[in-house]
Amino acid sequence: MTPTTHALFPTPVMVVHKILDKLQVAQINTDISRMDFSSNAKSSALAHSNSAIGPLDPVLQKAFSPIKGKLVAFGQELFGEELNWTIKEAWVNILETGGHQAMHLHANSFISGVVYLTDSHPSANLIFQKPESHTGFVFSNFNARSELNPFTAARWQVPEIKAGDLILFPSFMMHGVASNEGEQRISLAFNAIPDKLDSWGYSIRFNPD
Ligand SMILES: [Fe+2]
Repeated sequence: MTPTTHALFPTPVMVVHKILDKLQVAQINTDISRMDFSSNAKSSALAHSNSAIGPLDPVLQKAFSPIKGKLVAFGQELFGEELNWTIKEAWVNILETGGHQAMHLHANSFISGVVYLTDSHPSANLIFQKPESHTGFVFSNFNARSELNPFTAARWQVPEIKAGDLILFPSFMMHGVASNEGEQRISLAFNAIPDKLDSWGYSIRFNPD
């Protein structure tokens, strides 16, 4: 009898190609050109829009209306129930040639996402990293002989990202971007929270304000 290995407790990452069409992408790119940007602390070739812009901003409202349905669907996969989701914060990233984004995660958020407003060179596609021990030693058998599979791999890079694509992931996941070997890449990132979570009556409400 062939043994079965079960891949337990997977982490969902949703990729939606062409959530925005070319016209919508062009419109948002025009709208965001009025924003002010500041350099990232760890990469001078990466800039973020200065002020986080809430969901009521008409510019981003246009970008988020096609995304909301996917956000709710992804939230249902994460928490098993259709919940009310709010985009808590959103910002624009401009990644120039040679720029990178250090590995990080988004605390106090539940779903994070990125919408791409230009194509992404494969070198600058988003990378996710498996959590490692923060307080103890880490043992590994990663070497030239070892096989790469879903259990041994420590990183996964989104294979292809074009303008208009959406990526949704749990906010606890470590993610970053390696050095961009391509042209300028523009993306719109956001964090989303549900109005509440309920574990058999132990419910917690979240205030987006
Ligand atoms: Fe991020």
